[in-house]
Amino acid sequence: MIDTSLQPIGVFDSGYGGLTILKEFVKKLPDRDFIYLGDNARTPYGGRSYETVYSYTLEAVLKLFQMGCRLVIIACNTASSKALRTIQQKNLPEIDPCRRVLGVIRPTVEILGSVTKTKHIGILGTVGTVSSNSYLLEIHKLFHDFVVVQEACPLWVPLVENNETNNPGTDYFVKKNIQQLLADDPKIDAILLGCTHYPLLIDTIRKFTPPQVTIIPQDQIVAESLTNYLYRHPEIDAGCSKTGSVRFFTTDSTDLFDERGSIFFQMPIASEKIVL
Ligand code: DGL
Repeated sequence: MIDTSLQPIGVFDSGYGGLTILKEFVKKLPDRDFIYLGDNARTPYGGRSYETVYSYTLEAVLKLFQMGCRLVIIACNTASSKALRTIQQKNLPEIDPCRRVLGVIRPTVEILGSVTKTKHIGILGTVGTVSSNSYLLEIHKLFHDFVVVQEACPLWVPLVENNETNNPGTDYFVKKNIQQLLADDPKIDAILLGCTHYPLLIDTIRKFTPPQVTIIPQDQIVAESLTNYLYRHPEIDAGCSKTGSVRFFTTDSTDLFDERGSIFFQMPIASEKIVL
């Protein structure tokens, strides 16, 4: 049952990855209410078309609105790349101009200026995120002279989802993708993990990355950005209830979500099933 007296902040991801972001939201904003929605029945989104990712993401956002959320964070790079702009510009004005939907790409890009000296940045992401060029476009809006190279890592999400983060097979694929990125541009001094799953691979990524290269996971960056956003928009903050509750919904098996999701969230989870 949904408690409609609450106005939680909605957090959406195609599956488990957004839990790495939610974990940091809860640390930074422990008094806010959150609802997490993972579309595990239809994950992964990484290789799907624009139309499919957009329609799935819109369904999830509408469901979170129905559940009382006035603010929804799309905590998925693939969905942020392929659906966020259309939802913000086309759907929101028709649905309710007072609600807000935010993504993870812009806040992550904003911090890059303070990280790189060479102004050469590497992006790792899903096929969908990389082929959308969303990071490239956002980076060049803020930093015209940055050189950006991207590498799609199609196997990383399934490896993480299957809890295969620490074995020689995973090492092989992580090394291969990192080496390709660095071969494409040896001047890179910062690698951005443009997928919410990748923080779970950070030890393996470090193993194959030269020490002078900074690795940038986005979970804390996005949480800091949300905190600033709520401070700068008291009218939105006033529409977020504050009883410190966190609820988890999945479109697939709750048992599996609780088991695997707790690895991403780093705490036990008791999820509920939802139909989109
Ligand atoms: N969590 C998604 C992201 O950040 C990737 C997972 C998927 O392919 O569905 O891009």
